Amino acid sequence: MCGIMAYLGNKQAGPIILEGLKRLEYRGYDSAGMALIEDDMVIYKKQGKVAELERLIGADWPKSTIGMGHTRWATHGVPDDINAHPHRSSGGRLAVIHNGIVENYDSLKKALQKLDFSFTSQTDTEVFVNLVEYYMLRDEADLESAAFSALKRVEGAYAFVLMDRENPDRLVIAKKQSPIVIGIGEEEFFIASDATPIVQYTKKVIYLEDNELAIVDRKAGLIIKSFDKKILTKQVKELDLKLEELEKGGYDHFMLKEIYQQPQSVSDCMRGRINSEEGWAVLGGLKEHIDQILDAKRLILLGCGTSWHSALIGKYLMEDLARIPTKVEYASEFRYRNPVIEEGDVVIAISQSGETIDTLAAAKLAKSRGAYVYGIVNVVGSSIARMTDSGSYIHAGPEIGVASTKAFTGQVTLLTLLALILGRKEGNIPPKKYKTYLKALETIPSQIAQVLSIEEQMKFIAAEIKDSQHALYLGRGYNFPVALEGALKLKEISYIHAEGYPAAEMKHGPIALIDENMPVVVVATNDSDYDKVVNNIQEVKSRKGIVISIVNEDDTIVKGISDYTVEIPRTLDALTPLLSVIPLQLLSYHAAVMRGCDVDQPRNLAKSVTVE
Ligand code: AGP
Repeated sequence: MCGIMAYLGNKQAGPIILEGLKRLEYRGYDSAGMALIEDDMVIYKKQGKVAELERLIGADWPKSTIGMGHTRWATHGVPDDINAHPHRSSGGRLAVIHNGIVENYDSLKKALQKLDFSFTSQTDTEVFVNLVEYYMLRDEADLESAAFSALKRVEGAYAFVLMDRENPDRLVIAKKQSPIVIGIGEEEFFIASDATPIVQYTKKVIYLEDNELAIVDRKAGLIIKSFDKKILTKQVKELDLKLEELEKGGYDHFMLKEIYQQPQSVSDCMRGRINSEEGWAVLGGLKEHIDQILDAKRLILLGCGTSWHSALIGKYLMEDLARIPTKVEYASEFRYRNPVIEEGDVVIAISQSGETIDTLAAAKLAKSRGAYVYGIVNVVGSSIARMTDSGSYIHAGPEIGVASTKAFTGQVTLLTLLALILGRKEGNIPPKKYKTYLKALETIPSQIAQVLSIEEQMKFIAAEIKDSQHALYLGRGYNFPVALEGALKLKEISYIHAEGYPAAEMKHGPIALIDENMPVVVVATNDSDYDKVVNNIQEVKSRKGIVISIVNEDDTIVKGISDYTVEIPRTLDALTPLLSVIPLQLLSYHAAVMRGCDVDQPRNLAKSVTVE
């Protein structure tokens, strides 16, 4: 999950690339580097964040109008200055930046070493740039031809950008599985992992597809070829991203901004898709295909991390409301276990970034075996969005904080709409019940705004648990996936170990962990299993556990037996996750801030997992 940025045009490349790397830093921040060509090729690289690179370069930028930059999430080789990208070829002529993995780098490296190619880093990327140089020398080839030859030998996932110090008028770009967007300006080109560093310069973009090579040249402009060297005509897309969406807007962190955006983002997800007065809901991506989805013998929901938690809620919704048998799969497991996929199966791939390699590969596998693939994605034009048979965007806007918040509530909103529409179409939801659900769903944005008013209370509770080593999250029914999501939030940004469990499961093991040092967060908002959750809380209390409960505002019983109680507005059980997750997002945020953690860029993580 690295960030790559390159520029060719009529402006000074360095500052543009640096600004782009700052916008891409959420994709990985182990090290950063830049290569510029002015007379000779100069490469700056430094372990740590982009700010470290900026300090290294200082104020006197080369006047170069061509260059490339990279912010790294380490896959091969520790995060240090030497392994930082860009990497220079053994002969010093070429430079490369890379997002992905060269699976067969070891055998290629050994072959190149036998040909006296030298290596300075432990990375797989350096192997590729030396392979290209090898073909330039052997075939007296130009950069493009040598790149084509080298790509034939490479196995794995990649977005490469190559630069040749002896030809400062051209960049060569190649893509397979890792994303690449090319921004088209006035006599200038911006190449990046996604659109965020491009939108401030141009809204005209082209998305490279797998097995495509692009050349940007000062004279020839943009040329795109397939790997069998056929020239391709690509559609120029118009970005609908706004620059201010990429700023913090006065919040201390992107994560807090995105938590507070949820009334709006959930509302945007429903815009034009629901009308409880007239009693309808519609999903554009579904219209022409709804019968195919309804004929499905079963649904298979795929995702990773938070998106897998959304998928689990999706399962509860599809079976509870639409009565369609539904399976939930970790994409990374699904793709490798030779799953049974039958004609008529419908697979729903859920992903905020639309670039998660395991979800993308699992969806492609399902499609190759005859399944119909529907996407629920946030990033417009992302790889998963482009490969599905149809789908719906959640319209949450850019989610920059590594910890997913508004994407989760957007995904769950969309899954709720989907379940209601399918259930209604199947005749499993009578009109009156349908309108009740639609009305309750339309009320959710204002109820989320109401829940956000408990932030100070969550800050107080965070102070109480911030020094804990462990935490347990419990929930039943629709709140079980919420417990999982709350635990993930806490551990990924505050580094407190946390686990989510079905509340009833506690007696089958985790109860052994409970003592006076163990905070236990219990999501107790559902009527359908309230009494049982009360029993679970009693069991925790009798072992001196610290109980933090999330309850409906008219609750009496749980309030009386908890150490801390957070009240949220009442809604239908099936819609509870959209509200009960908010306190858990705020709890994890404040615990992380109090522990001095890097909330938006937690250690070892990155926003989009585009490598296996
Ligand atoms: C969630 O907070 C994490 N950032 C992570 O689990 C994330 O949900 C997962 O990597 C899936 O990402 P996606 O939704 O972009 O596919």
